Amino acid sequence: MADWNPALYTRFEDERTRPAADLLARVPLDRPALAIDLGCGPGNSTALIAARYPEAEIVGLDTSPAMLDSARARLPHLRFGLADAATWEPERAPDLIYANAVLQWLPDHPTLLPRLFGHLAPGGVLAVQMPDNLAEPTHRLMREVAASGPWAEAIGDPAVAGRLGRMLEPAGYYDLLAPLAAEVDVWRTAYHHRMADAAAIVSWVSATGLRPFLDPLDADQRAGFRAAYESRIDAAYVPRADGRRLLAFPRVFIVARKGL
Ligand SMILES: C[S@@+](CC[C@H](N)C(=O)[O-])C[C@H]1O[C@@H](n2cnc3c(N)ncnc32)[C@H](O)[C@@H]1O
Repeated sequence: MADWNPALYTRFEDERTRPAADLLARVPLDRPALAIDLGCGPGNSTALIAARYPEAEIVGLDTSPAMLDSARARLPHLRFGLADAATWEPERAPDLIYANAVLQWLPDHPTLLPRLFGHLAPGGVLAVQMPDNLAEPTHRLMREVAASGPWAEAIGDPAVAGRLGRMLEPAGYYDLLAPLAAEVDVWRTAYHHRMADAAAIVSWVSATGLRPFLDPLDADQRAGFRAAYESRIDAAYVPRADGRRLLAFPRVFIVARKGL
């Protein structure tokens, strides 16, 4: 897949950072010595961690060079590095592993989450938030539009491009971590973001979930796909009383604390 686009991603930064703040608010730590922001993106989530824990050593990790450049420019006093959450091993045990809106991109959660939890120092916390929106019109319509049209062959199986089958039910995450943790808090929330129009919704997902659908396409196919998708989005997200569209966006949160 092509590299991430920090400018496009930060277009909806307030909306995207709100769940990051809600996750951090539930982290039961007062003074972590070492905090890792896994999948730090352009540093928006890292900035929240730095504001709450100004005395902590904070390291942001990501697989995207463009995102890391953006994060370094924003927070030059913090350390950022290239690492893949699937294989990352800490140099020393962190007190906080915080992963906001990243692990949904990775497979095999039954292995991944216990492995990350195992890296924590005693008393440490794993805090994870993931969009749970694959059944929402935004993502269902990506798959439907991908399945027919001159782009179908280039995209391949829409279920693969759409990352179907990776997420567990909220209770599944509880069952994974409860036997290992002193305390596990799992919750699911749906935000309802006010969006100007259908094009804004397409722009939002263009920076994230739509990337595996658009990346394999040439310029003409991409324009055709976007137009077909936007017209389906326009019909699915009807104008509200003030003319805006409400983008329902369910997310799953997990906060697991290790015993001392
Ligand atoms: C949706 S952004 C989240 C950014 C930020 N944490 C936030 O709260 O907005 C997802 C980030 O995860 C990164 N990412 C994707 N796969 C990754 C992996 N396997 N390991 C580390 N980072 C990854 C992407 O490069 C991107 O910057």
